[in-house]
Amino acid sequence: LPTALAAIVIGYLLGSIPFGLVLTRMAGLGDVRKIGSGNIGATNVLRTGNKPLAIATLLLDAFKGTAAVLIVAHFFGEDASVLAGFAAFIGHIFPVWIGFKGGKGVATYLGILLGLAPLMALIFSIVWLAIAFTTRYSSLSALVATLVIPVALWILGADKIAAAMALMTIIAWYKHRANIARLTTGTETKIGAKG
Ligand code: G3P
Repeated sequence: LPTALAAIVIGYLLGSIPFGLVLTRMAGLGDVRKIGSGNIGATNVLRTGNKPLAIATLLLDAFKGTAAVLIVAHFFGEDASVLAGFAAFIGHIFPVWIGFKGGKGVATYLGILLGLAPLMALIFSIVWLAIAFTTRYSSLSALVATLVIPVALWILGADKIAAAMALMTIIAWYKHRANIARLTTGTETKIGAKG
C-alpha cells in the first residue's frame, strides 16, 4: 500500500501542474480560460495566436505524464507506474490548485502512453495527425485516437495498460462532451482558427 500511495501522490502532483495556464500567464497573455473553448490545453493556447507557447504546452502537459510513469517505474516497478500514469491523468483533469477545473487530458494521455507503451504513443500520434490533417478538428482527432488505443493494447494482450487507458479514454470523452455537441452540430472550431 505505501507503494501505491507514493505512486498516486507523485502522479497526481506532476499531473496537476497546469502548464497551459502557467505559460500563458508568464507570457502576459492573460487568462487562457477566458478565450476560445475556455480550456487550458495546447489547442486553446494556440487560439492566443502564440504557436511556440502552444507547442510548449503540448510538450510539457505530455512530459509530466511521461515523467510520472518513468519516475515511479524506476523506484516502484511497472504496476505502480500504471497507477502513477492514471493519477497523473486525474491530476491534469482535476487539479486541486485551480478548483479541480483542469484540461481535457489529450496531451497528458499521450505522454503517459509514451511512458507505458512507447509504440502505442506512436500509433496515437499517427491517428491523431491523420484525422487532424484531413478534418482540422483537434477534438475529433483526440476522440478517435483515444478510442483506438485501448483496443490496440487489448489486442496486443497488454491488459492492465489497456484497462487504465480505457478509463482515461472514458474521462477524456466526458471532458470533450461540449466538443462532441459542437462536432454534431457542425460548429466546432478548426485548428488554428480563433475560437
Ligand atoms: O486537446 C483538447 C482538444 O481535443 C480540444 O480542445 O480547446 O478545442 O476544446 P478545445
